[in-house]
Amino acid sequence: MVNVSIKVNGEMRTASVPPETTLLRLLRDNFNLTGAKLGCDVGDCGACTVIVDGLPVNSCLMLANQVDGREVLTIEGLATTDKLHPLQKKFEEFGSLQCGFCGPGIIMSAKALLDENPAPTVMQIRDALGGNLCRCTGYAKMIEAIQAVANGSIEPVASKSA
Ligand code: FES
Ligand code: FES
Repeated sequence: MVNVSIKVNGEMRTASVPPETTLLRLLRDNFNLTGAKLGCDVGDCGACTVIVDGLPVNSCLMLANQVDGREVLTIEGLATTDKLHPLQKKFEEFGSLQCGFCGPGIIMSAKALLDENPAPTVMQIRDALGGNLCRCTGYAKMIEAIQAVANGSIEPVASKSA
């Protein structure tokens, strides 16, 4: 077993886990943070995306051990009890999700992008979502929602594929 101590959504959390435990398993199974989803488990779908020290990562590909002493933000860390994060609000407003399974990962990738680049172009948004697969939506409404959060100006993207 290895001891892991990380700051998750602003709170110090510790656990003792087998060395092969991934960050995703740690979050879901030990910390009961089930927002990050287990999709492919091999780094292909982005459903498990969380932010580690400011960068989006596939948490299914990181060992919990590798995150010891670092800072993790998950989808649960975005909203407060009575207020959604602007990205969550715009995704809701724009109807950006259908089944929603990809949503937490997409929103975390979008947050990491906007933290780094508050006014991204459509191409930059597409690039940022490149590792996040969605089987339902076609991405256009997501891109519009991210743009709306970024700068309030919306370039039509419905006719383009992501
Ligand atoms: Fe991690 Fe698919 S579950 S990338
Ligand atoms: Fe269903 Fe994206 S909304 S996978």
